[in-house]
Amino acid sequence: MGNLYVFDHPLIQHKLTHIRDKRTGTKEFRELVDEVAALMAYEITRDMPLREVEVETPVATAKCKVLAGKKIGLVPILRAGLGMVDGILKLIPTAKVGHLGMYRDPETLEPVMYYSKMPSDIGERDLIVIDPMLATGGSAAAAITELKKMGARNIKLMCLIAAPEGVKRVHAEHDDIDIYAAAVDERLNEKSYIVPGLGDAGDRLFGTK
Ligand code: PRP
Ligand code: URA
Repeated sequence: MGNLYVFDHPLIQHKLTHIRDKRTGTKEFRELVDEVAALMAYEITRDMPLREVEVETPVATAKCKVLAGKKIGLVPILRAGLGMVDGILKLIPTAKVGHLGMYRDPETLEPVMYYSKMPSDIGERDLIVIDPMLATGGSAAAAITELKKMGARNIKLMCLIAAPEGVKRVHAEHDDIDIYAAAVDERLNEKSYIVPGLGDAGDRLFGTK
């Protein structure tokens, strides 16, 4: 069964508070999302495998460790997932990035996929699906279904704010997926927005309305 990990690091929580604040403008919102994404990437990569190497320091030979070179793939769900990509790439600069375009139909609230472009070796990579908001879970669950159809085997889901309903749906449809979030909020409202949430993540990131 997949797990839910909520990052309680003080820096993540502090920055998330400013992200939520409706007075935070587009520029600062974007910067903060970028910073929180980097901090979350730091936490999410804790279990990355290492291998031993030797290096010559100016003084002696040191037995050290380097990353074992696992291949990582980031898959932002457009649009809002894009806001977290650069922050993660600061820590994992060799990750390849696939894009999945998805929007919620305003009437049915069901996800509609309009774009997909993945690295060709998707089956060999550890994938991190990125979306700031996990609301009903429809978009994330559909994205994971698509990725599995394309051959993906190892997938994590990273979001800023999750609703309990979204966590439940993703785990109901994909019981192998670990979910990483900075917060789990109370509930969804009648329009399936997360309460208290942060509003519309795409609009706040890109200044649209
Ligand atoms: C938002 C968000 C998620 C989705 C979450 O995207 O970025 O992708 O809603 O909702 P769900 O869990 O109920 O599926 P939106 O559909 O607003 O598209 P956008 O990023 O292009 O604005
Ligand atoms: N999408 C958003 O951007 N915000 C929400 O609260 C729910 C879905």
